[in-house]
Parts: sequence; C-alpha cells; structure tokens
Amino acid sequence: MEKVGVLLISYGSRAACIVDSLTKDGSYDVRIFDAGKHRNPFIDKYSDAHEATGGDIERIVSFAGKYKEKIDFGIAGPEDPIIAGVRDAIENKLDIPMICPSKEFAIEGSKVIQRELMAEVVPDANPRYRVFDPSEGMSREEVRKELWKWLDEFDNEVAVKPDIPVTGKGVGVWGDHFNTREELWEHFMSIYDSGARVIVEEKVDGEEFSLQFFSDGKHLISTPCVRDYKRAFDGDLGPNTGGMGSYKDTGNLLPFMQERDWEEGLRIGELIFNRLRGSGTNPGLRGIPMYMAYICTKDGVKVLEINGRPGDPEIMNILPILENNFVDICYDMINGNLTGMDFEKLATVTTYAVPMTYGGCRGKYSGSTVVVMDDAGSLQDKYGSNIRLYPGSMKLGDDGKTYALSSRALAVVGISDSIESARNISLDGVKSTDGALWNRWDIASKHHIGNSINHMRSLGGEK
Ligand code: GLY
Repeated sequence: MEKVGVLLISYGSRAACIVDSLTKDGSYDVRIFDAGKHRNPFIDKYSDAHEATGGDIERIVSFAGKYKEKIDFGIAGPEDPIIAGVRDAIENKLDIPMICPSKEFAIEGSKVIQRELMAEVVPDANPRYRVFDPSEGMSREEVRKELWKWLDEFDNEVAVKPDIPVTGKGVGVWGDHFNTREELWEHFMSIYDSGARVIVEEKVDGEEFSLQFFSDGKHLISTPCVRDYKRAFDGDLGPNTGGMGSYKDTGNLLPFMQERDWEEGLRIGELIFNRLRGSGTNPGLRGIPMYMAYICTKDGVKVLEINGRPGDPEIMNILPILENNFVDICYDMINGNLTGMDFEKLATVTTYAVPMTYGGCRGKYSGSTVVVMDDAGSLQDKYGSNIRLYPGSMKLGDDGKTYALSSRALAVVGISDSIESARNISLDGVKSTDGALWNRWDIASKHHIGNSINHMRSLGGEK
C-alpha cells in the first residue's frame, strides 16, 4: 500500500476529523506527523511522531525538518499559524507542499481588509461599516463623539468587532451583548485600548449559514451549507464561543434557505475568489482560502466574515460524508487538479461536549477531568460509521487516561438521512460519554430550526 506522510498543524476536534478523513477508507497507509498542542487520543493512533509546538512557526519547521524525508505534504487547520505564515515557512525552508493559504492570502487576519475587499467586489453583500483606528490619535472624547454619531445612523443596531481573528468571541452585538451605549462603549474600548482597530458595522437581522470553499489556486469548489451555534447556551443565550455544534441537511441548502440564497452565496464566493486569484492560477489560495460566514436577510445574503481555514465545528459536517478519497483531494489541491468534490446526500449533526468552565457555565471546577469514551465508542456497533467521535481539547496522559483540558473537549457527529435522526445519533454519543462535560441540547432541534424558518418568514422570505 502506498505510504503517505502528512504534517498536521492543527489541534482540536477539527484535526481529528481531518485525520479520520485521510485514513478512513484505507486506500493509503497514512502516517501523521503531529505538530499539535498536546497528544490527542484520536490522532495519536495514527501518529509516527508528535511534538507540542504551541503553534510556534519555528518550532513547527524544526519538527517537520526532522521528518522531512517521510512527509509528502502538510495541512494546517487553525488560523493563527496560517496568518503567521506557516505555509511560506515550511515550503521555503523544507520544500514540503502545504495545504492552507499563504500568508499573503490569509485574509482572515484583518476584518478591515475583508470589508474593503467586499466594498469593491460585492458591495451589496457588505453591511455598512466604519473603522475606528487607535493609531489616528483621536482623544477619547472625539472617539466617543464620532462613535455616538455613527450609532445614531443605525439607531444603535450595530455589531462591534475587533480587527483581529477572534472566531466570533470578541464580537459584541447590540441587543445581544449590550443594551445601552455605555455597555457598548465598554466593549468598544476594551478592543480600542488594546491597540486594535475596531469595526462598527450595521447589525443585520437574519439567519446565518457558512460555506467552506476548497481550492487548488485555480478552481473554487463549494461544499454544502452548514449552520453553526456560536452561543454557549440553549436558545442562543450566553457568550459567544468557538461553536457549540452545527448541522447540515441532506442537500446543499439548510431548511430556512431558498435556492437563491445558495446561489448568491456561491456568486459572492466566486467574485471574491476571482479578485484574489487574479488571472490564471494562484497557488497561494490552496486549501480552504474562504470559509464564508453568511447571513440570509430580507435584503439578500450578506457576508459576516471571511475565514481562511476549515470551520470548527463546520468541517466535521462535511468531511465525514465526502465520497472522494481525501488523500486524493489533497494531492489534487497541490497539483492544481481539484475540479470537483462529491458528498453523500446525508444530514450531519455535530454536538460538542465541553468542560464545566467553558462558555462561563461554571465559575470553577475542581473535580476530575478524566473522560472515558468507551461506551460512546461502542455505539459504532449500533450506528457503524454514522457516528464519529472526535476528541478535541483533550490530552492522552502518560497513564493512558484521557483528560479534558480547557476548551471544547469532544465533538460527536451523527450522520443519517434526516437531520432529526443524525441529531439523535450525535446526542446518543454525547450522553454515552463518561466525564464532567456539558453540551447544548438544542443543536439542530426541530424547535430551533422551526424558529429559523419562522424568522425568515417574518423578514419576508417565502419559507
Ligand atoms: N465555527 C467558528 C469558527 O470556526 O470560526
């Protein structure tokens, strides 16, 4: 069997899903060289080497250099090393092809640059925005006056975002995160005083979806739409998190979307990609150069933000139902031959089980952090490959036990011919996990999806 060595620059459940996708059909003998944060219990089974590089580029290069002869390509998941230029460093120093955008095309690095790009290319999809830049040296009083003027334009209905990647966590929205100007000011200044630019943009009312585009630098391949659940608690309450779960329907659209929303999402993605690509092929855009966060509104589809990597959890709704061999897809991306990807017509639901203090659920937790996944693993006897368990912020200890760390611990993906049964499988996996973890119960629930459909109706959509 052909051996394939893969440098994995990722951590968390997303990385476990990538490894699962590379290895699951057994066509290649895939060995992983894991530059993750800690020994992930899933990835460890496929790893020839692991080093906790902490995302530091020099340490990643040094680790990869030791195994250079055995590595065929690398793949990166998280935004920080991509934005810091991990691809350029590995390709220039070690000549290992990397699957992720180059530093120049890591547009996730600046929300201001994204908004400026969209203002040129897809102005109708760009909410009105204004940038407040601390380097302009305005006094606090001037900033406050300008901000108040801008808030008047929208009757306070705005979103306040730092010009740095925060996976949704630093975003504050009027009516959700603050209800008075003083509260908004506090959030605004917490960003502004840190030296980062602040974007204050029109709040758009609607229902969110995301679309992850793969590319070889020439072709742009879309994947089905996914809905992420950012808020910590049921009913979309509590602080923003990295994402507590996500769902995908059996086709490309989500239940609250119309065909024209999907087409508009594709059109926006293509226009932005073509502008970034220029003429011909641009290998700097290899990987997932655009993971677009969209919102369906009464005025059509708007862009919330553009990321340049697989979504976490969203990629876990997509890769498990990929019909093509993922190693072949990776080689196609490297060789400029990625002309299509096929997906099974199945629904997928991902639920994250997270530690007690995640999302502010508990102030403190001092009990055991051991997590035992044996019973959840045994569900494969019942569901076969329609249940996937992806440990994330979890560490395999020297004692052989698995410990939950501070972030999202375990993603359970259910796969089925309806959202409802995929959700049941996902929740069965979560409920069968032994450990001090909690989760949202309304991911992909009929009630939540019904609310999305009604919301779109109330805005004037036809569904
Ligand atoms: N699901 C949010 C993110 O990956 O940024």
